[in-house]
Amino acid sequence: MTGTITEIAADIYRISVYVPQADLQFNVFLVRDDEPLLYHTGQKALFRPIFDAVRTLIDPAKLRWIGFSHFESDECGALNLWLDKAPQAVALASPVLARTCIDEFAIRAPRVLEDDALLATGRYTFRHLLTSHLPHGWGASLLFEETQKVLFCSDLLLQRGDPAPFAGDLVSRAVQALEQGQAGPFRDAIPYTTHTKVTFARLAALDPQVLAIMHGASLRGQGARALLDFEQALARVGGPLQ
Ligand SMILES: [Fe+2]
Ligand SMILES: [Fe+2]
Repeated sequence: MTGTITEIAADIYRISVYVPQADLQFNVFLVRDDEPLLYHTGQKALFRPIFDAVRTLIDPAKLRWIGFSHFESDECGALNLWLDKAPQAVALASPVLARTCIDEFAIRAPRVLEDDALLATGRYTFRHLLTSHLPHGWGASLLFEETQKVLFCSDLLLQRGDPAPFAGDLVSRAVQALEQGQAGPFRDAIPYTTHTKVTFARLAALDPQVLAIMHGASLRGQGARALLDFEQALARVGGPLQ
């Protein structure tokens, strides 16, 4: 397995590993800045290809921040391997994620970020958004890079297969994956709660120019439209049972 590297915005690199058994891409994102940031670590099994890809972009020992949306193997399974390789690296976590998972799991304490907290890495600034249960998990959050308006979406807009880094039919393919999920492994993966609509509206109001998506292609332009269309599909598929 190798990681395919694509620069999806200035200094923001998508490293994609396709796993045929899951028919899914696992994408991590590296931000090359004074204080480099990695968003998602991938599972432990993907550590080597992702590490080798990161090594072509920065000295991995200089990694400073490791962000992820929620506590699952693909989002942060390899966290401790990264913390071991990068002595100055610190995980980022919401208060709930820190208290319920990361304080216990990680070999070093995380930096806890509240809602709307800003993190400057040099040229770029990240806003931390608490998004409880979106995509899933009580302590879930997302990151938004404000200078270039890049939203790191985690599992939102997941697409199956091994698409190109940018794909025009992304939203329809994400909706297709949701609909197929009704009978398959993604059934109930993203709950539709009383907060879901307002959280999507908040994300869309950021007017993201790039959606950095964890599974499948990224989107350039029309980010707000894509998020709102996806919310509608989620309400239809994942809303209360009729
Ligand atoms: Fe997930
Ligand atoms: Fe994921």
